[in-house]
Amino acid sequence: MATQRTFSIIKPDATARNLTGKINAKFEEQGLRVVAQKRMRLSRLQAREFYIVHKDRPFYDELVEYMVSGPVVVQVLEGDNAVLKNREIMGATDPAKAAPGTIRKEFGVDVGQNSVHGSDSSENAATEIAFFFSGIEIVG
Ligand code: CDP
Ligand code: MG
Repeated sequence: MATQRTFSIIKPDATARNLTGKINAKFEEQGLRVVAQKRMRLSRLQAREFYIVHKDRPFYDELVEYMVSGPVVVQVLEGDNAVLKNREIMGATDPAKAAPGTIRKEFGVDVGQNSVHGSDSSENAATEIAFFFSGIEIVG
């Protein structure tokens, strides 16, 4: 598999507990490179738009409020098979069901406050990267 890029968010539950470095260590130790990164507060509009695919799910409003509740770190990760590899490093959505050693198992609070977002396909990765970063901000 050729080098690929994926989009990642370190979510408010993790930034609140000062876990940015520990989460980045998981990416780096397992072969992903942080090629763009910025810490920001999402606006409610940005959070609603970013998660628009979930607009009809019962957890949508709660998810949006959580994502604006504190700072996030948005990132572009690069490496072989980066989309799938990042999903493996993250672990299952529900930390209780995530495999040992994954970010969500080690750091996740519950199914909502699960410490990280990661793109689920290369198409969505491209859309999500473009939502937050311009080309000159990504340095591979
Ligand atoms: O993040 P992931 O792709 O693993 O899961 P998702 O199904 O795309 O859901 C997006 C996010 O919504 C999750 O990461 C959770 O933060 C939140 N969520 C929730 O609050 N309650 C659920 N039952 C499922 C997801
Ligand atoms: Mg998802």
